[in-house]
Amino acid sequence: MLPDAITLPTLECERLRLRWLTPDDLPALFAVFGDPEVCRYWSRPAMLDVAEAAGLRDQIVSLFTQRSLFQWGIALRESDEVIGTCTLAGLDEPHHRASVGYALARAHWGRGYAGEALPRLVRFAFDELNLRRLEADVDPRNLASIRALERAGFMREGYQRERYHVNGEIQDTVLFGLLRREWREVGLDRPVSAPDT
Ligand SMILES: CC(C)(COP(=O)(O)OP(=O)(O)OC[C@H]1O[C@@H](n2cnc3c(N)ncnc32)[C@H](O)[C@@H]1OP(=O)(O)O)[C@@H](O)C(=O)NCCC(=O)NCCS
Repeated sequence: MLPDAITLPTLECERLRLRWLTPDDLPALFAVFGDPEVCRYWSRPAMLDVAEAAGLRDQIVSLFTQRSLFQWGIALRESDEVIGTCTLAGLDEPHHRASVGYALARAHWGRGYAGEALPRLVRFAFDELNLRRLEADVDPRNLASIRALERAGFMREGYQRERYHVNGEIQDTVLFGLLRREWREVGLDRPVSAPDT
């Protein structure tokens, strides 16, 4: 997967740009993942300081080198300000599958940004990485995330009880899956964004 790339390619959307995270983005990363509301249904508690954001970025760089995690910053096209991240995790080349993830700073919720970034991520995974299957797991109470997945074509595949233990709370999870062939069949593969750079 992307054998010669040193960084992730930039993926353009209508209002957003999915791009490689740089050290300049650490305060923005902390603004996203330091917010307990953003991490309400996340698998890890909120960050306590910007050093944790630096640790996350180091991990993103290192796991990209191993080609097991692709994590883009979600930036506003207009200002290039990072307002979140989106992820292909657990990249499994032999089985052509990965898991998707995404988070946005709270100030940017409810504007359809997940509905823009997620389909772009899916298109990259299927068209450029040649994956066959994408997966997601989401807390059943996380209605915005569930809706974003369903809009992107994901189907409910299962339910796991008490899968996470975060901040002293045990959380169930709904499992979602999307197959490339289904995504093509229903016409979700149509590009809806500007050309990539
Ligand atoms: C999940 C998240 C990325 C959604 O981002 P967003 O940009 O606000 O989502 P959108 O505006 O694209 O909305 C997605 C859909 O959910 C709906 N929605 C938004 N908030 C909702 C809510 N509180 N309840 C029900 N539906 C909601 C929207 O109407 C939209 O549906 P539509 O396309 O049919 O209109 C954002 O809430 C977030 O960052 N949450 C914290 C991190 C997180 O939980 N990530 C997912 C982990 S699985």
